[in-house]
Amino acid sequence: MNRPARPRLLMPSSASLPRVDAAPPGHAHPDGSAESGRRRLILAASGLPLLALPGLAGASGTPALQLTPRQTEGPFYPQQSFFAQRSDLDADLLQVAGSRSGARGTPMALSGRVLRVDGMGVGGALVEIWQCDASGTYLYSSESLRQGDPGFQGFGRTITDAQGRYAFRTLRPVPYGGRVPHVHVKVALTERGARRDLLTTQVYLRGDDLSGDFVIRSVPAAQRERLIATVQTTPAEVRASWDIVVAV
Ligand SMILES: [Fe+2]
Repeated sequence: MNRPARPRLLMPSSASLPRVDAAPPGHAHPDGSAESGRRRLILAASGLPLLALPGLAGASGTPALQLTPRQTEGPFYPQQSFFAQRSDLDADLLQVAGSRSGARGTPMALSGRVLRVDGMGVGGALVEIWQCDASGTYLYSSESLRQGDPGFQGFGRTITDAQGRYAFRTLRPVPYGGRVPHVHVKVALTERGARRDLLTTQVYLRGDDLSGDFVIRSVPAAQRERLIATVQTTPAEVRASWDIVVAV
């Protein structure tokens, strides 16, 4: 894989992505708006640059974004025996090369951008997702491939474009074993031929009841919003939109 292209555009973040200075309605400001203002005043009075504090304006004057929280990888990242049997690892998880049937379940388009905290897109980033099939079975080993839906890919990869955009066709995730619906995500860069993982996490869908899920509850309440995709439902599919902010 080539070294990622240097992001060129300074794009506004999506409306789904909370900014430091724009807490979503009904949620406490992650930085505490009054506290943030007080810190700005103190800095202004001290003569120190505002950039000295994380979470305030970036170098361009654009408000800094907050990092997407990490979540556990879980036990179902594909094993070698999975990769040995599955050569189709593309961004369309609803169709497996060589399989006559498509995946069972509700189709979902999952898309968004990989961004730096200054709002610039990260081009050339590897984005991987994995999730269970419509029956709650993860496809992660040769044995699980025999048990799961043969029409579902279970795992997919894509590379972000120059603006950091990614897009997958997959299933609307289903609950299983005490977990609410979620999709596992990894973001990585390749530098000098070596893979560097930037983030491992899980994304959830707005509208689902997440209150009983022990994994997302492990994230501080003020950060959970950053793990929830906006959702639009059409007759044909669910469209989930989610931006990922990584430290690069
Ligand atoms: Fe999971």
